[in-house]
This record gives sequence, C-alpha cells and structure tokens, in this order.
Amino acid sequence: MADSAGIQQGSPAIGAAGLVPAAPGAGGTEGSGAAGGSARIAVKKAQLRSSPRPKKLEKLGVYSSCKAEGACKCNGWKSQNPPPTPPRTDQQSNTVNLQEPCRSCSHTLGDHVTHLENVSEDEMNRLLGIVLDVEYLYTCVHKEEDADTKQVYFSLFKLLRKSILQMGKPMLEAQESPPFEKPSIEQGVNNFVQYKFSHLPSKERQTIMELAKMFLNQINYWQLETPSQRRQRVPNDDAAGYKANYTRWLCYCNVPQFCDSLPRYETTQIFGRTLLRSVFTVMRKQLLEQARQEKDKLPPEKRTLILTHFPKFLSMLEEEVYSHSSPIWSQDYLAGASGGQIPIHTAGEKRKASDPLPHEENKRPRVVGDIPMDLINEVMATITDPTAIPETSLLSAHSARDEAARLEERRGVIEFHVIGNSLNQKPNKRILMWLVGLQNVFSHQLPRMPKEYITRLVFDPKHKTLSLIKDGRVIGGICFRMFPSQGFTEIVFCAVTSNEQVKGYGTHLMNHLKEYHIKHEILNFLTYADEYAIGYFKKQGFSKDIKVPKAKYVGYIKDYEGATLMGCELNPSIPYTEFSVIIKKQKEIIKKLIERKQAQIRKVYPGLSCFKEGVRQIPIESIPGIRETGWKPVGKGKELRDPDQLYSTLKTILQHVKSHQNAWPFMEPVKKTEAPGYYQVIRFPMDLKTMSERLKSRYYTTRKLFMADMQRIFTNCREYNPPESEYYKCANLLEKFFYTKIKEAGLIEK
Ligand code: ACO
Repeated sequence: MADSAGIQQGSPAIGAAGLVPAAPGAGGTEGSGAAGGSARIAVKKAQLRSSPRPKKLEKLGVYSSCKAEGACKCNGWKSQNPPPTPPRTDQQSNTVNLQEPCRSCSHTLGDHVTHLENVSEDEMNRLLGIVLDVEYLYTCVHKEEDADTKQVYFSLFKLLRKSILQMGKPMLEAQESPPFEKPSIEQGVNNFVQYKFSHLPSKERQTIMELAKMFLNQINYWQLETPSQRRQRVPNDDAAGYKANYTRWLCYCNVPQFCDSLPRYETTQIFGRTLLRSVFTVMRKQLLEQARQEKDKLPPEKRTLILTHFPKFLSMLEEEVYSHSSPIWSQDYLAGASGGQIPIHTAGEKRKASDPLPHEENKRPRVVGDIPMDLINEVMATITDPTAIPETSLLSAHSARDEAARLEERRGVIEFHVIGNSLNQKPNKRILMWLVGLQNVFSHQLPRMPKEYITRLVFDPKHKTLSLIKDGRVIGGICFRMFPSQGFTEIVFCAVTSNEQVKGYGTHLMNHLKEYHIKHEILNFLTYADEYAIGYFKKQGFSKDIKVPKAKYVGYIKDYEGATLMGCELNPSIPYTEFSVIIKKQKEIIKKLIERKQAQIRKVYPGLSCFKEGVRQIPIESIPGIRETGWKPVGKGKELRDPDQLYSTLKTILQHVKSHQNAWPFMEPVKKTEAPGYYQVIRFPMDLKTMSERLKSRYYTTRKLFMADMQRIFTNCREYNPPESEYYKCANLLEKFFYTKIKEAGLIEK
C-alpha cells in the first residue's frame, strides 16, 4: 500500500500506549495513513462547503453529464476512467469556470450543471462530498500497488462517480449485505465475557469488560493484511474466503473511514468468527509485543490492566476463537436468558439512530409471549448480582449445591487439574504425588475395588484424572478414559474424601469434567455407578436411559458386576460451571417481572356490594380490576382453564394443521444439510413434530405457549426464506388456516 492511501496492512492501527483507540485507520506516522487522508478530506470538504455557489457548480460540472442537447452523451471530463498516469498536483488545483468549454464535449461547463440550479445547498454539499471522495479514491487507485486492493478502490471510485451523475446515494451492489456472519465478533466477545466471567464480583467484571471493549476497539481499527500477503504467510488457508472478507472489509469498514459518503460499519459488528480467526493470532502477538515495547509510556492506571490482565484475557479468548465447540459462537447462546448479556460496545463511534444493525435487531420478528427487551434490560439493571456475595458471608439456604465450591475456587482455596501418567514425558514429581493421592482417595472411598486395580488405572497413560486439590493435597477426583472415535468417555472412578463430602465438590468436579469434554468435543459420558452413588449421578444429569448406541461402547467400556450403567449427554451451549449462577439470575429476573406485574395490579378496589342487594350472580369480568390482572373470559378472551379441555382443543387444532396441504415444509425440524446456515439465522427453531411432542408432554399449559410456538414456525420461515419462495407462501397460507382454526375453537376473538 502506498503512502497516500497510506494504510499498512496486517498491523495494529493504533499505538499501544494505553491501548486507546486513535483516529480511524491511523496506520503509521502522523500525517500519513488513512487518518491523515481522512483529516485532509475533511478540511477540503469544509472549505468547499463554505465556498460560493458558482465555485461549487464548477466543481460539480466536471463530474456531471452535459444537458446541452439530447444527443450529447458527455458525462463530464472527470467522469472518464482514471488515466493511466496519476494526476499532477498542479492540475488538480486547475481553476475552471462555467463559461469554459468542457474538455470532452466542448459545450460550456454551465451546460453540465443546469440540473443543479434549484438544488438545495445541503444536496450540493452532499454531492461535493462525494466529489472529494472520488478524487481521493482516484489517487488511491493510482498509488496502490496491491492488485486486489486497487481493484476494490477502482470499483468504489466508479460507484461514487455514478452516484454523482445520478444524484443518488452510493449503494454498494453486493450480493450480500452486512452483517456477513452471525453472531458478530462483538456478540461473540460479549458471550465470552458472560461465559467465563459472569461469576466474578462486579468490580472485577468491570475490568474484564474494559478489556473486552479495548479488544473490540483494536479490531475496529485493525488494518487487515492484503490477500496476497496472507497467501504468503498462510499458504494453506482458505484464500477465496479471506479475499471475500477482505473486499467486504475495504468496502464497508475501511474505505468509509476516510470516504464518508460511503456507509460505514464497525468490523466487530458485521463480521464474525471467521474474520476474527484470520487475524487473531497475528493481532494478539503484535499487540502484546507493542504493549511490552511501550510499557514505560503506559499511564500508571493502565499498566496492570494491559501488562497483566490483557495477555491472560487474550489467551482465554484465543481458546474460544479456535475451538470447534465453543458455545460463545452459537446463535442462541444463552439467548435472552443469560442472566443478562452485558452489552459491550466499542467506545469509538456511538451508534447513530440510522445505523443499520440495531434496526436489523428491531426488525427481528417478535412472537406472542415474548417479553419486551426494554423491560428485561430495565429489570436486569435492578436485580442484585447473586454472584456478588461477600467472600466471608454464609451462603443462603437457597444457594446452589456447587456455590461454595465455586467461591472457593475463585478465592484460590481449591484447584482443578486434569492429570495423567505419560510414557513419553519425564515424570513430573508433583503430578506423580497427586496421582498417588488420587489412588489413596479412590481406594478409601471405593473399598470394594481392589487397590491394585485402582493403581493400575490411575497410572495407566490412557486414563486421565480430573483432580481436586485443596491446600496442595488431593481431596477428590474423577478418573476417566476418553474414546473420541466412539464419541463417549467412560467415568471409571469418582470420589471425594469423606470429610469433604456433601460440600458441593462432587458437583463442581463433574461440571468441570463436562466443560473439559465440551472443549474436546466429546458429548457423552458413560459410567457404571455403584448402588449408593446412583443418587449422586442422577443429580449430575445422568440417567439409566443410555443415548449412546450399544455398538459404540460394548467392548470398550469396563463392565462391573452389580453396578448400573448410566449415561449423560452434554449440551455444548451450557457453561456448566456457571450454570447454577445463570439459573439463579433467571429466577431473579422472573421474580422481578412478576413483582412488577403485581405492582401494576395491586390497586385496591372497593368490595362488591351487589350481593347485599340481592344479586346472586355476576359475570366475572364485571368485578372491578379483574381485567387488569390479565384475566380474559373464555370464549372471548380466551383462556381455557381446564387442562384436559385445553389439551384436547390444542390436539385437534394441531391435527388439523398437520393435515393441511401446506404443512409439509414444517413437519419436522429443518435439517442443517438441506438449509445451509439455517441455525445461524434462526435462533429459535420450531416445527410441528416438536410441537406434537410438547403437546404430548403437557408442556402447553396455556394457549399462549401453543400459539407462540406455532407463530414461531411461520416467522422463522419468513425470516429465512425469500418472499417469492414456496416455503414462504406455505407459511402464509398455513398461518391463515391456523388462525381460522383457533378462532373457531374460541381461543381468540373472531
Ligand atoms: N447418594 C445419593 N445422593 C448423593 C450421594 C449418594 N451416595 N452422594 C452425594 N449425593 C448428593 C448430595 O446430597 C448432593 O445433593 P443435593 O445437591 O441435592 O444436596 C449431590 O449429590 C451432590 O453433592 P456434592 O456435595 O456435590 O457431592 P460430594 O462432594 O459429596 O461427592 C460423591 C459425591 C463423589 C459420590 C461422594 O459422596 C463420594 O466420594 N462417595 C463415595 C464414593 C462413591 O460412592 N463414588 C461413586 C462410585 S461410582 C463410580 O465411581 C463410577
């Protein structure tokens, strides 16, 4: 990249001193780079805006089409493609006047601007803004050496020139419009903070949020390396995919930083994990290097944050960025129920009301029964943080089983390590000591197991043990063997030393083991549980109903007489070690929502006097205040109180819907293979089969739940498919039919 466009690719756009965002695209030294370019254009634009109207017309004339006579096809002399050589600086400041003949068609320049006579000053200024952007891009096209970048500059140059001719708004004609991947980088980092740090007290969480914000700002001003530079550095990478993202980044994020007539988006809001993966390693290395080099220049209050916390934060994030199973990139990660996503936005530019992303969000179809996000946010702001328990306080009677263990881990009282013996590495004394400690705990707690057998498995290199260490001593552990090819892990021994039992350690151990396995993409546990331990395993989500096919585990797992085979299927979206905190927060939110509703309807009405006057019966809805509680009469407002009656009504409706000729696309869950990216777009999938199962399990305790699920089917379909598609039409027709049926059944008003 040459000087005038001046942006060094594949580099931090900002100085590390304080890691504070600088001006957009500040690539290198002051005065060069996009920041310099941007500032220069801004000054020029301001000068031009304050110049007299004839001057403005002259400027626009050379870019506008000739109106002298119908036959003249001239588009102004500056509307040609850029000449092969760059313009000389003295040519650029050429003065022209409206009487001067056009250098292309020889009509006067005035003939080129007759259409602008009655145009407002604001519109003139807007067009002049585009003119200056065109001139800047013109220089960029000439000076740029990288072929891919040059091509994009040229396309943008043509686009802007066309919008001057047509007096339109520059619209990028791409097949896809932003956002290009969901969840966005910003959302992913938000999820990461929730996933890993929501248990921290609010002050520490604040620090993490500051780091996350800093990181997002870095990405927004990060200069991507060109596709050819990347090909040289990572030859085996998906070159076409990177090039596509690079082009989008230039068009939507980078060039608009200095050419503000183009709509600008934040990198972190329109790109997702793919782009982050392509920059993360280099970015992390360079940021840390830069921070180290400039550590003396760092303001004292930022030192610990940047030199101590930031590297750790980046390492943890790196794991999630490159992991294939990290839940933070799931579209419905803790969706709407995370105990509150803490939205971290980049500090750089504030979102304008007109910015597209929040608007997109608002457009997300809402379904009957959804609680308004504003209300949730308001409630979130008021709930007390259940994780902010004073370290020394007694836990409440309602504390989750693992809460004490989680707090101890946070305070460093206990530690968890996955360890094992190895034949390839030199034995580590500490690990060997711990393995001996584990062998001791298992031998004491599982007296029916031969000691030699326990020793053999604990020291067998194919087995690993998640060990729980307190004060340097082993107090518990879970010994396991992974069978990745078979898709499960066998839990061999699980025990906590007797004086530490029933303190939540067993639960926290199992939760850590679950997270460890999600990271390693094994989502099933199998174990032969002792008769006395069945209760414990049930509480950890195990059941006798084994989900792994028999053929997968017979001959692999060790069989124990008198023990019961139990299995547990893991859900990769659940952050197990934080799960109870999240559930607690959710309960708190629901409690607050109920309290609010109650406060709304707490008004005391005078008692009914009609009965004293001889009236024997009155309609329920005539009782003052009854409607305010949300009660609606059956038949009009439409809640069926009798669960059996509701069940049979819903069953009939569902059968009708399923038999409808347009129901075929919705009979079963959408298959990933048939609808690429479906589950990235649709956060809450629903189908008629799932609804039948829900109905059977008596999930639909109100008509609202039923209607919300059905509505979800239609809105999902319309969100994913284009209006002209057959699916879209089926959704509309079936929806109409559904509403006819529920009206007929008296569930909603006719
Ligand atoms: N039966 C029924 N419930 C139990 C049992 C049990 N044997 N042990 C614990 N629980 C319950 C607890 O009461 C608690 O329930 P709650 O949350 O409703 O209060 C829940 O399980 C978890 O309790 P934790 O405190 O998290 O578990 P703990 O630290 O006590 O560890 C463990 C549980 C490992 C089973 C421990 O009790 C132990 O070492 N027992 C002896 C060894 C043993 O039996 N191991 C399992 C053999 S099977 C095998 O290894 C594959």
